[in-house]
Amino acid sequence: MDKLIIKGGKKLEGTVKISGAKNAALPILAATILCPGKHLIRNVPDLRDVNTMKSLLQNLGSGVDVRDSVAVVESDGFKKHEAPYELVKTMRASVVILGPLLARLGKARVSLPGGCAIGARPINLHLMALEKMGAEISLDSGYVLGRVGRLKGTDIYLDIPTVTGTENILMAAVLAKGITRIDNAAMEPEVVDLANALISMGADIRGAGERVIEIKGVDELRPLDYTVIPDRIEAGTFMTAAAVTRGNILLENCRVDHLDAIMKKLEETGVQFEHAGNGVAVKMSSRPESRDIKTMHYPGFPTDMQAQFMALMSIAGGTSSIIETIFENRYMHVAELRRFGADIRVEGHTATVRGVGSLKGAPVMATDLRASASLVVAALCAEGESVIDRVYHIDRGYEGIEKKLTGLGADIMRIKG
Ligand code: EPU
Repeated sequence: MDKLIIKGGKKLEGTVKISGAKNAALPILAATILCPGKHLIRNVPDLRDVNTMKSLLQNLGSGVDVRDSVAVVESDGFKKHEAPYELVKTMRASVVILGPLLARLGKARVSLPGGCAIGARPINLHLMALEKMGAEISLDSGYVLGRVGRLKGTDIYLDIPTVTGTENILMAAVLAKGITRIDNAAMEPEVVDLANALISMGADIRGAGERVIEIKGVDELRPLDYTVIPDRIEAGTFMTAAAVTRGNILLENCRVDHLDAIMKKLEETGVQFEHAGNGVAVKMSSRPESRDIKTMHYPGFPTDMQAQFMALMSIAGGTSSIIETIFENRYMHVAELRRFGADIRVEGHTATVRGVGSLKGAPVMATDLRASASLVVAALCAEGESVIDRVYHIDRGYEGIEKKLTGLGADIMRIKG
């Protein structure tokens, strides 16, 4: 397994280009299932998760080629309608092929994703919605089996505004008969990006990005020609990396309108931002001040930035209270951050972080994607050398992390294992 060796204490300086959003690219790739033809998707990040989605589509019978951030998907002939356990177990987001498979083929066999490091993460709301749209859903030997003639539009209320759940319903509804209304829909930019991609295919969708989305089913769609939005979580991660090292960097290809909650909170800690063309300059010249956060659905502070913000707070002046409300077990990074000397106490959903003067390099273990990112952030400002093991978690969601950080002046090296 690969390791990252980081010698901390280098100020980050220079320019970094933000890649396409993982959590938008994945469902948009799945949307190619919806109609035959040659699809073109640009700004697709080179990530392990994108490779997994590529394998899922190839397993169904699609031709997929991803090169230089452009994915070409030929989705004419399907041999299968299945997402096997071997692939789903490595990426929960595989579940987003369920909706489009039912819409296009009227049948699907998708392995249940099961729990993961950050929580139980059930898909009951996805299944409830698809059943309401007329699909017969059953569970067999760890697989979800779905069957339907043609899905029908209906009113769906989501108890929780689930992101991939909303995406599955969107993709099921675009070819359904009649109108589907999703109430309490997820409003994340990645959901809006998927909706825009579907609209570009000829779908009739109103209200994406709002609480209620209305979809009028159409009889057929045309292939995609679409550019994925930049990754707001990658951008937020580089912002915290600049902040912990008191650096001065320019993020290119960055949608600041998707980063409101993150940038406002970072500004309160002392980070200075300056808008620059299609990017933003990030500068930190003092020790960060402590601030509290509570993770929320969009437009609130994203759970996917909680761990990185905690790394920043671990060297802040004062005490910060961090409340995780989206996932029940998203504090796996706490024990690892403590190994750097961070002073963090967790009680229930609340982590109390007392800022320390400095962190010290340590050997640590990446446990999930965003937890790993927080360890990189901490190691960048820690005195001495840190070794981060199991970096395959980082490769799931950060394109060329060590290349990008090296470009900003960090002392970081990958040891192939
Ligand atoms: N939930 C249910 N039932 C459901 C669906 C969700 O109880 O049927 C619960 C979950 O257990 C969780 C909450 O609802 O407690 C929110 O989960 P959601 O379904 O919104 O999460 P997701 O769709 O599985 C996506 C992102 C995650 C991100 C969350 C929250 C993708 C591929 N994944 O997951 O991204 O943390 O939304 O914003 O879009 C990451 O990129 O590191 C990552 C984990």
